Amino acid sequence: MTKKSEKIKQHVKKHYAELAKGTSCCDVSTCCGTSSRTSYVKMIGYSDEEVEGLPDSVLRTVAGCGNPIALADLREEEVVLDLGSGGGIDVFLAAKKVGPKGKVIGVDMTGEMVQLAKENAQKTKIENVEFRLGEIENLPVEDEMVDVIISNCVINLSPDKDRVFTEAFRVLKPGGRLLVSDVVTQGELPSEIREDPEMWAACIAGALDEERYLQKIRNAGFKKVEVIAKNDFMERVSSIKVRAYKP
Ligand SMILES: C[S@@+](CC[C@H](N)C(=O)[O-])C[C@H]1O[C@@H](n2cnc3c(N)ncnc32)[C@H](O)[C@@H]1O
Repeated sequence: MTKKSEKIKQHVKKHYAELAKGTSCCDVSTCCGTSSRTSYVKMIGYSDEEVEGLPDSVLRTVAGCGNPIALADLREEEVVLDLGSGGGIDVFLAAKKVGPKGKVIGVDMTGEMVQLAKENAQKTKIENVEFRLGEIENLPVEDEMVDVIISNCVINLSPDKDRVFTEAFRVLKPGGRLLVSDVVTQGELPSEIREDPEMWAACIAGALDEERYLQKIRNAGFKKVEVIAKNDFMERVSSIKVRAYKP
C-alpha cells in the first residue's frame, strides 16, 4: 500500500473509531440526537418496521447512504456478508430475513466498531450473526462461502477498490450476488476535495465517477452489473444501489 493510501485508511479508521465510541457525532449526515438520527435513518431508506425495536446504539452509528437490504431479495438459509458493517444495522436486518438456518457475517477494520456491533448483537439477541475484524481488501473469509454480499457506503472509503471487488468475487459462491449502496460522482471532483482526509472519511472524496465504479465491478468478473436505484444528494454526487452477479 502506498503511503498516501495508508494515511487515508488510518484517518478513516480514526474517524469511525470515534463514531463507535460516541466521541464524535454522525457522519454523512450532520445530525445528532435521537430524533434527528431516526429521521436520517428513515431518509436513507429504512422503513418504520425495520427501525422499530433496534437499540439506540445501533441507530446512533448508522452511517450508510441507502438500504441495501431493501432490494437484496434475501431468502431463508442464505449466507450473507456485509462489507464494512459498522454498528451492524444491515447485519441485523439481513439476519431476520435469512432466518436461523442462514447466517450473516459483518467485516469491519475498526476494532471499536466490531466491539460495538458484538455488544449490539447481545442486546438484540439475534444469534445468527458474526462480526470479524478485517479489511475489505483482504477479507477474512474463505473462498466461495457466501450467497450474497451487501455493503452500505463503504467501498468509496477504500483506496483500492479493484482489490475490494476482486475479494468480493473470490468469496461469493458461483451464482452469488452483490448488492451495494454507495456514493459515486458524475465526473471527477476537484483535487482539493479528493485530497482532503476529512472528505474521504465523510464518504465524498473517495467516491469514483459512476461509470469507472461500474467498470471496476465488471473487471473483477461480475456480470449483469446494473444500477437499480439512484438518488442525487449533492451537485455531481449521488448514492446508488448496484446489483451484480458472479457467473
Ligand atoms: C460509512 S460507515 C458505514 C457503516 C455501516 N455499513 C452502516 O451502514 O452504518 C463505514 C464503515 O466501514 C468501515 N471501513 C471503512 N473502510 C474499510 C476497509 N477498507 N475495510 C473494512 N472496513 C472499512 C469503517 O470502519 C466504518 O465502520
